[in-house]
Amino acid sequence: MKSRDEIFKEGRKVVKKIIDQAAETARAETDNVPEPGLTGDFTFPVKATLNKGLEGAITGSTGIGYVNGEKGWLLYRGYNIFDLAANCDFEEVIYLLLYGDLPDVHELEAFKKKLIGYRSIPEVVIDVLKKIPTPHTHPMAALRTAISVLGTLDATADDCSVDAEREVAIRLIAQLPGVVAAIARIREHKRLVPQDISCTHACNFLYTMTGESPIDINNISEAIMNVALILHADHGMNNSTFTGIVINSSLTDMYSSIVGAIGSLKGPLHGGANERVLYMLEEIGNINKVEEWFKDARATKRKLMGFGHRVYKAYDPRGRVLKPLAKKLAEDHPDFMKLYDIAEKLDDLVCKKLGKEKRIFPNVDFYSGLVYRSLGIKSAMFTPIFAVSRIVGWTARALEYLQTNRIMRPRAVYTGDLKKKLIPIEKRKK
Ligand SMILES: CC(C)(COP(=O)(O)OP(=O)(O)OC[C@H]1O[C@@H](n2cnc3c(N)ncnc32)[C@H](O)[C@@H]1OP(=O)(O)O)[C@@H](O)C(=O)NCCC(=O)NCCS
Repeated sequence: MKSRDEIFKEGRKVVKKIIDQAAETARAETDNVPEPGLTGDFTFPVKATLNKGLEGAITGSTGIGYVNGEKGWLLYRGYNIFDLAANCDFEEVIYLLLYGDLPDVHELEAFKKKLIGYRSIPEVVIDVLKKIPTPHTHPMAALRTAISVLGTLDATADDCSVDAEREVAIRLIAQLPGVVAAIARIREHKRLVPQDISCTHACNFLYTMTGESPIDINNISEAIMNVALILHADHGMNNSTFTGIVINSSLTDMYSSIVGAIGSLKGPLHGGANERVLYMLEEIGNINKVEEWFKDARATKRKLMGFGHRVYKAYDPRGRVLKPLAKKLAEDHPDFMKLYDIAEKLDDLVCKKLGKEKRIFPNVDFYSGLVYRSLGIKSAMFTPIFAVSRIVGWTARALEYLQTNRIMRPRAVYTGDLKKKLIPIEKRKK
């Protein structure tokens, strides 16, 4: 009989082949697109043209990651996302983002041990989660609360040196999968599953979420969860990352920064979109209805969930990877394949019409929900899974900024009166 690790290795091989194929297509299609010019030497002050929603604003410089929206490329610390997704453990990518380069065998071994050592969740957090009313409380609200509770339990939380905050970051990265899994199971009134300290971050997460013994998880599930975690780990100066940096820049504590970032990610214009994509596909319901639904959505100016991006004006590279993985997972499940077919048709229509007119393409959230659904995960848990991964980018970037910290403090243009006369309350009439 094959060992669990052998089964997982086979899964990784299958998934690598799919990603390598997607990467080849992406490179062939986009290699010649010119650089948009957001790389290279940088010093303040900088001249930029600003638009609503801080479009065009530059918050500083970073060595962590780069989104080339014209090509549809994503780099972490210089490495292309396709190469990382095809070849790495999520743990290697955590190390890369936090420490600046990929670990060697010994560094990775030690880092994995450290993460495993931090996995357990204090009982008081579980107690609080059990008291949160379900189902009307969104899991992201529960997650925000859990991180806040973890902060109250850490006597070192207010030490805002880079070393102390990095330690908090690693602990939170290790604990988040267990917290999210606990939220998922408490919502469904299921017994909590103890962490499996003998397996990878991705495997343990799936195991504690679904309750299936890791050995029973079909051989590509672990590999696909590993890839999904890698793809979501960092993404430029997005709304939640910026939120985390802004909060951390007041020299508060890392827990507060992560609580804020989770609150931001929850929104439907950001991480909350993945859950809504599934509702949208279910609402369409049938491949024959896609065209009519799309026509109506355009006529009523409805936002299409999982499409469009502030930075990408090309097909999102993470979507290029998740799309064939969603298809692979759906192959053995007619119900999932039905949803996949609807998604693929909508993707085609949007690319043909809105891609040409407005450069709107599918983003990471369009196919991630289909992947998670096929792994047996409920829609409401999709955005928390995003957080399990993005906490790496949040903390890496907050730590990078902390090294040369200056409090974030922009201004707004005042449009009110300048010289109003104060009228005593008894004489005010409205
Ligand atoms: C991601 C998002 C918030 C980016 O917002 P933004 O940079 O402020 O872009 P805007 O909302 O200004 O959109 C620019 C134009 O494209 C249109 N557009 C953008 N995303 C669209 C979408 N998903 N469906 C339909 N039209 C869209 C806007 O209506 C606008 O058209 P107009 O110029 O005719 O008014 C936006 O594309 C969106 O809401 N997408 C859906 C939610 C989602 O998938 N979020 C996850 C992002 S990873």
